[in-house]
Amino acid sequence: MLSVRGLSKQFTSWRDDLPPAVSQVSFDIQRGTTLSLVGESGSGKSTTARMILRLEQATAGTVLFDGQDVLTRDAAHLRDYRRRVQVVYQNPYASLDPRFTLEQIICEPLRAFAIGDRTEQRQRAATLLQRVGLPVTLLGSRPAHLSGGQRQRVAIARALALEPQLLILDEPLSALDASVQKQILDLLAELQGELGLSYLFISHDLAVVRQISDQVVVMQAGRIVEQGPAEQLFRAPANAYTQRLLSDVPGQRYLDSLHFQVAI
Ligand SMILES: Nc1ncnc2c1ncn2[C@@H]1O[C@H](COP(=O)(O)OP(=O)(O)O)[C@@H](O)[C@H]1O
Ligand SMILES: [Mg+2]
Repeated sequence: MLSVRGLSKQFTSWRDDLPPAVSQVSFDIQRGTTLSLVGESGSGKSTTARMILRLEQATAGTVLFDGQDVLTRDAAHLRDYRRRVQVVYQNPYASLDPRFTLEQIICEPLRAFAIGDRTEQRQRAATLLQRVGLPVTLLGSRPAHLSGGQRQRVAIARALALEPQLLILDEPLSALDASVQKQILDLLAELQGELGLSYLFISHDLAVVRQISDQVVVMQAGRIVEQGPAEQLFRAPANAYTQRLLSDVPGQRYLDSLHFQVAI
């Protein structure tokens, strides 16, 4: 579905010589699977995502989506790409406009792409709300009335409105409580199974990544230090940095302690 080769970003500053934010990043995402990008804050995960989305111009490298070159495309082709690739951000408090009802929020991409009439758009919003596990009665509500988990469900519903093939999820769980994180992870897995979606899942939390990934790419200071099938990487991390990330997973300790409590 997505093939990234040699992707690099050098930000420039008049004051300092900045190190590259992203350097020679390459990976493939197969259709219907999840690739996770992990690494500590500042390792270049979001910049990589933003280059793939063409929100940031790459300094070097190529991105192929469904075999088509994304970075050199003209506006007409880019429009099609923007339909097929959607993004969900970390903070559902900042990413949903508080002035709009959920119906307006979910229908916005449909309006932007002139898909369906008002009735069809409303119907689609209702279907999407149900699909992400929220009652249709919330269509007229505003984000202020929702919990963090509910807001992230709405953000996912909006991202699904245009029937994309790839979702880029940039730390989608980081603002949520552990119990809510699990619910959203389950929802994402369910949607992937139902809709055959591909995910680029960005996280600094390996406990979360472990549950959702087919492939894992570990980044440090803009470079890939390790990549491979999730199961293999978690069983036998080859790189010292990955090992350090793995040994410092508070989420995992929390889950282990829950199992312990259940056991006793
Ligand atoms: N617009 C920008 N201008 C200059 N430097 C930036 C900009 N955006 C990000 N960076 C730098 O690029 C590096 C990678 O950042 P980012 O991709 O946000 O990392 P992550 O998402 O892994 O936390 C960081 O050192 C960050 O300070
Ligand atoms: Mg980031």
